[in-house]
Amino acid sequence: MNQDTLTSTARELVAPAKGILAADESFSTIGKRLASIGVENTEENRRSYRDLLFSTPGVEAYISGVIMFEETLGQRTSEGKLFTEALTERGIIPGIKVDLGAKPLALHNNELVTSGLDGLRERLVGFREQGARFAKWRAVITIGDGIPSEACIVANAHALAHYAALCQEAEIVPIVEPEVLMDGGHDIDRCEQVTSRTLGEVFTALRRHDVLLEGILLKPNMVISGTESASQASISEVAERTMRCLLRNVPAAVPGIVFLSGGQDDVLATAHLNAMNGLHVDTPWELSFSYGRALQQGALKAWGGKPEQFAAGQKAFFQRAKANSAACSGRWDQGLEKTA
Ligand code: 13P
Repeated sequence: MNQDTLTSTARELVAPAKGILAADESFSTIGKRLASIGVENTEENRRSYRDLLFSTPGVEAYISGVIMFEETLGQRTSEGKLFTEALTERGIIPGIKVDLGAKPLALHNNELVTSGLDGLRERLVGFREQGARFAKWRAVITIGDGIPSEACIVANAHALAHYAALCQEAEIVPIVEPEVLMDGGHDIDRCEQVTSRTLGEVFTALRRHDVLLEGILLKPNMVISGTESASQASISEVAERTMRCLLRNVPAAVPGIVFLSGGQDDVLATAHLNAMNGLHVDTPWELSFSYGRALQQGALKAWGGKPEQFAAGQKAFFQRAKANSAACSGRWDQGLEKTA
């Protein structure tokens, strides 16, 4: 393991005012996104949508890295250049989602454990050869009646740690993503409890596996009210609770925390990140974004699958990336949305 490569790549991914674009939707998930704008889920449509995002002029000022799906890693721009090369030329680091999805956890109804460890060592070598310098693995923790179980949290933490160790062996920076879902009627207290317990277990497992903490990034959920909860916490409460939870559980050696958006409205996800960075200027880690939906919603809609609206889609993506970049230093405000 080359510790310098890992730490410098991890730091580069959370360079000031920059965050990560998650564009690693599986075949079925990208199918749903494309269907929402009436576009068929074909290889060419997937390629041209990703091309729109990746080739957005000037977006490299706000985006440090892109997480891709396996298919995309081998695809090319409309000019015939590999995406990995085109991104690298603009200073954007190519990344790859390596998990094989969340599957039902044995003996535990309604709970999931992420699969993909078998053969991962060999797959990572191939991804590295294709140009990927960082990776992502998402664990899913569901809140509900009597869940999450200890089995679910421990099994997922173990898999995340094993994945992270394999990545570091291949000189690939692992993004460790334990997502506590926001679906459900639970309140913010419950989300804080479960997130705290999950992060505690994840860092115990990472230490047990001797993972170099300076060479990872954490991608957590924010501490937030369940989508069906009658009482929705304010932006400042989400920011305060999330910060408290992270300060209690994430070692200072970790260079950066890049949030997932998890289904939040795009502007709200920006407002939350902004509030957190406004609250604390002296956190031990960088606090940034690795949004999927919250970076892409506007772009998808503005593009609508129409070639003549390609530039409009890029403009929407650029504005969203710029807004989140401002939120990395607490300098975003609602007024910036109106100007955009
Ligand atoms: P969302 O921001 O849409 O939650 O996606 C981020 C991600 O990469 C989920 O694994």
